[in-house]
Amino acid sequence: MDMITTIASLTAEALRQTWPDAAGLPDADALRGLISVPPDPAMGDYALPCFRFAKALRMGPPMIAKALAEGWQHGSVARAEALNGYLNFFLNRTDFARSTVQAVLAADGNFGAGTEGAGKTICLDYSSINIAKRFHIGHLSTTMIGNSLKRIYDYLGYKTVGINHLGDWGTQFGKMICAYKKWGNREQVEAGGVDALTELYVRFHEEAKKDPALEDEGRAWFKRIEDGDPEALEIFHWFKDLTLKDAARVYELLGVEFDSYAGESFYVDKTGAVVDALREKGLLTQSEGAWVVDLSEDGMNPCLILKKDGTTIYATRDLAAAIYRHDTYHFDKCLYVVAYQQDTHFRQVFRVLEKMGYDWVKDCVHVSFGMVSFDGQALSTRNGNVVHLDDLLREAIDKARAIIEEKSPNLPGKDEVARQVGIGAVVYADLANNRIKDINFSWERALNFDGETGPYVQYTHARCCSVLRKAAELSLPEPDWNGLADDESQALLRLIERFPDVIREAAAKYEPSMITRAVTDIAQAYNHFYYEHRVLDDDPAVAAARVALTQAARDVIRRGLWLIGIEAPERM
Ligand code: ARG
Repeated sequence: MDMITTIASLTAEALRQTWPDAAGLPDADALRGLISVPPDPAMGDYALPCFRFAKALRMGPPMIAKALAEGWQHGSVARAEALNGYLNFFLNRTDFARSTVQAVLAADGNFGAGTEGAGKTICLDYSSINIAKRFHIGHLSTTMIGNSLKRIYDYLGYKTVGINHLGDWGTQFGKMICAYKKWGNREQVEAGGVDALTELYVRFHEEAKKDPALEDEGRAWFKRIEDGDPEALEIFHWFKDLTLKDAARVYELLGVEFDSYAGESFYVDKTGAVVDALREKGLLTQSEGAWVVDLSEDGMNPCLILKKDGTTIYATRDLAAAIYRHDTYHFDKCLYVVAYQQDTHFRQVFRVLEKMGYDWVKDCVHVSFGMVSFDGQALSTRNGNVVHLDDLLREAIDKARAIIEEKSPNLPGKDEVARQVGIGAVVYADLANNRIKDINFSWERALNFDGETGPYVQYTHARCCSVLRKAAELSLPEPDWNGLADDESQALLRLIERFPDVIREAAAKYEPSMITRAVTDIAQAYNHFYYEHRVLDDDPAVAAARVALTQAARDVIRRGLWLIGIEAPERM
């Protein structure tokens, strides 16, 4: 049990014992949310404001604090003092240091891992790129939030299924094949990859302005894909392979993986059953020749199911996909990590599933997020504001290499470290804030080794590793845990001790940024500690305690970075 939870239950018990007849007192769970760390350590290690109970007890907060302090039965909290309506708790700092460090070291790199997810499955739909389009910056957040959530749930013992719901269906592919047949050739497309496909698509639209009959030809090619025509399918699959090969490079750089690439095309033959079910349940109505599910009762626009020409749309395929995932994986939760622009889409899809009687739709969650933009002009490419992710990542690596070259020219394995730091900077910037906030990316900020950045946290981790390398050369005695009773050590310990809790909160709120925050706080606290104290102290038993704390900090930072998808180099 972590310290805040311990204090909360001790206090809940104390409240009950002191005022057995009072009604409306908060329970331990509610108390947890009220406990915080006072700004001045002289006011205790933790504090609880007593204003909240004033009404239930019909008593002033100072009186309540005083009564609780007087009757305090300490347990792991050495004493409680009343001050200005607050109950201030003072830990037995030596015990707290010992138990916290020992717990982290005993976990052997897996501090905070859990088994609460055993037997439960979570599907995560993330990244979900579109075929024949370059992997651009708009897909960074979905990729990294999804990747992080997958790691978080894995760490808590869930079975996770990472799904890349490819955008690989739609009339645009007919147009692209049509353009390819008219103006393209195999060598040129092989050489140009996804860019060549984009050019063909752009050309199609230019030519179609002059010659509208092209649209029909494009549609005819799409019909051939739908009908399983071998030539059309061969070209279509080739386009898909090219795109996925391109994306694979980015995924490798980012260390992101999937369990399934079942995209929209995979569900096309499963949409018939969905349409039948909707019709049977009387949910389909006709509107201007198309078939829709009316959602006016819910204050939403109708959800389009079949177009006038009888073909399905994005939403139809998402209905089929949700049902398929439920039947196949029996998920406890299905998360859709998709930008907030698709809020309405998911509200419609979930509502339709609910109307169909699928009560498991309550377990489907749209994990939405804001947009990424740049303040540096240099980043927008010739074709407007689309920033290609591989260009961005390569630029990040180059810039990181230049910084490393300057700071530590003799570092071994510079290329590898530059990759880890460059990518880390981008991923950190992406996961630094509440996911729903828009992100304004700036190179200067992202690559600053001193600010709240990926490189800063990585650098702190490398600093811990360096201390541990030096310590390994000494033979230290058993730690003297009194050596960690100072304010800086305790501040660091409190953050480390909370880490398991942060992971669970991040999981419950689908919010990787909470882990980003926690590793940053821990890195900052470690650096405070490091500047205020000599780790390799003259007293070897104190040195041993500080080394153990350094190791605990290193383990937790490393694990935290891993949970948000960032590597932790041992030297920088
Ligand atoms: N391919 C879509 C896009 O890029 C995202 C798909 C999200 N997943 C889903 N099941 N609809 O906008």
